[in-house]
Amino acid sequence: MINFATEILIEVTEKIFKIKEELGKAQPENIQQLEEFRIYFLGKKGVIQELFTDFKSVEPDKRKEVGMLLNELKKSAENKFEELKKALTAETHTSQLLDLTRPVDLINLGSRHPLSIVRNEIIRIFQRVGFIVNEGPEIEDDWHNFTALNFPPEHPARDMQDTFFIEKSEEKGDIALRTHTSSVQVRIMESNKPPIRSIFPGRVFRNEAISARAHCIFHQVEGLYIDKNVSFADLKQILLYFAKEVFGANTKIRLRPSYFPFTEPSIEVHIKHPVLGWFELGGAGIFRPEVTEPLGVRVPVLAWGIGIDRMALMALGLNDLRELFSYDIENVRLRRTMMRGNHA
Ligand code: PHE
Repeated sequence: MINFATEILIEVTEKIFKIKEELGKAQPENIQQLEEFRIYFLGKKGVIQELFTDFKSVEPDKRKEVGMLLNELKKSAENKFEELKKALTAETHTSQLLDLTRPVDLINLGSRHPLSIVRNEIIRIFQRVGFIVNEGPEIEDDWHNFTALNFPPEHPARDMQDTFFIEKSEEKGDIALRTHTSSVQVRIMESNKPPIRSIFPGRVFRNEAISARAHCIFHQVEGLYIDKNVSFADLKQILLYFAKEVFGANTKIRLRPSYFPFTEPSIEVHIKHPVLGWFELGGAGIFRPEVTEPLGVRVPVLAWGIGIDRMALMALGLNDLRELFSYDIENVRLRRTMMRGNHA
């Protein structure tokens, strides 16, 4: 016969085991769930506290055993809580510092300047047919920029109006910012033996008022093709090849007579842009023997100088040279994307 006291005892003991089992299974995964865990098991109105109330109804001579079970349960709930708390806070702490699975923040890398894109494109076009790239100094002496290229002393290009002089000296010769990349042609011929196939991209400087159509800093890619049997036909073909590589197979070129002190014949090269029509690409010609012979070169020297600022502007769909030096990064970035699209 089960009396009332025994029933209470069984009920409390069963509850203890049931809660012990629940406690074993409970697996809070974050701080919020841990708080729920604490309230449920260890709160003032929690299941364990409730057992302590029930415990008061247990017969005094059974209290020792039940009390032990109950204390054990409470202790293990408290221990589990402490352990979980440690683990979960440590985990959030490290995961805030070091979550290796998080996608990285995008770093704004900026973008290449349109002039660099055009220059690199031009370099690739010439490299495909065997040209190499050379460079020369931007600060140049009078000999390489003018005298060696047959510019007479009274030539207007030497004037203060056109040239940024750094140092003027009667005995040592003037030092100035180069006004064209043809200065590099002199350096290449001085220090290399033909055959030579080389291009030299670079910045050049002329003392001009800045406007939509002129700038005091601009960019050229100069070319030099020196070999025994090269002729004007080769020069024309190189320029045509270049125009077709840039603007497509149907592109036309137009050569106009021109004058440069160091070449004869001298030409102006025009290219027909598919949308914008004819534009002047630059100058070209065959070096005069009286210029090349003192440099030790006795074979024909084909040369050309391409202005690349206008090409970069056309690629961007702009027509003011000052835009190339603008700080409107967003505008340039947007247009650069268009330009990429066109070239793809
Ligand atoms: N150096 C000339 C200029 O700046 C261009 C040119 C280069 C002409 C090579 C002939 C040969 O205008």
